[in-house]
Amino acid sequence: MSPLLELQGVSYTYPSTPHPAIQNLTLSILAGKKTVILGHNGCGKSTLLLLADGLFPIHTGTIYWKGEPLRYHPSILNLWRQRIGLTFQDPEQQLIAATVAEDISYGLFNLSLPKTEVALRLHQVLIDFSLQDLADRPLHQLSLGQKRRVALAGVIARRPELVLLDEPTAYLDRWQTHHLFKELERIHANGTTLVMATHDIDLAYAWADWVVVLHEGQLMVSQPALQVFSQLEVLKQLRLGIPLILEYWNSLPDEWRKNHLPPRWFDRFSI
Ligand SMILES: Nc1ncnc2c1ncn2[C@@H]1O[C@H](COP(=O)(O)OP(=O)(O)OP(=O)(O)O)[C@@H](O)[C@H]1O
Ligand SMILES: [Mg+2]
Repeated sequence: MSPLLELQGVSYTYPSTPHPAIQNLTLSILAGKKTVILGHNGCGKSTLLLLADGLFPIHTGTIYWKGEPLRYHPSILNLWRQRIGLTFQDPEQQLIAATVAEDISYGLFNLSLPKTEVALRLHQVLIDFSLQDLADRPLHQLSLGQKRRVALAGVIARRPELVLLDEPTAYLDRWQTHHLFKELERIHANGTTLVMATHDIDLAYAWADWVVVLHEGQLMVSQPALQVFSQLEVLKQLRLGIPLILEYWNSLPDEWRKNHLPPRWFDRFSI
């Protein structure tokens, strides 16, 4: 499978900090995959997604989209962000307009879509994210979970080829998380490539087909999920924990396990 996004030898240090947040990172995001970026707090997950979206110019290395290097020119960045949609870890940083409908529409008008198309996409995404009743509400009046849904809806309505999700389930209740995953399955089935940063190993096990592990800004693992979850020693060494379902599985009698495969998918968020 071909890489959609590639980082080659990328390093980034925030201004006024002594240590790089991302160090010499070489990584491919494969088209059509559901990739999880795992790692401890502060390992560089959010920074990686911000760099991938072109938000900070990198000091060293190159980022490529289908082989084309990213250049930090306004018109190129504009096109870059049409292809890549990012939902921030903190939804408060993402929302800029006065109301829910205005915020989602603003992102769509930025794509130079005709008014009728904007209205159609807005209508649909408000339904998909159960936001119809909140459409005219001022954003500052919303709860954090509601803001998260507006931010996700705004990105998905733009229909980018690659969606980067930074801890997308934070603040969402179980029902909304269930809906989010249904929506992600739908857009993935339509060809959208998905990347999700999380430190939730159970979520990674349930959802990912590719796993990237970062540690102190460096790449530790980039492998198919099945391979990663068959090497539990590596997960232990990296102190990422073991998925609960594999813990239960390993406690079953050998006699049973040798004739079965561990369950790969379970709907953790079914209602
Ligand atoms: N705006 C900033 N200015 C200076 N340093 C920053 C800034 N944002 C992040 N950092 C530092 O960069 C490193 C990577 O942070 P980052 O937010 O990418 O980690 P993360 O893996 O997303 O963590 P978390 O799981 O807590 O979300 C950390 O050491 C952090 O302190
Ligand atoms: Mg983060």
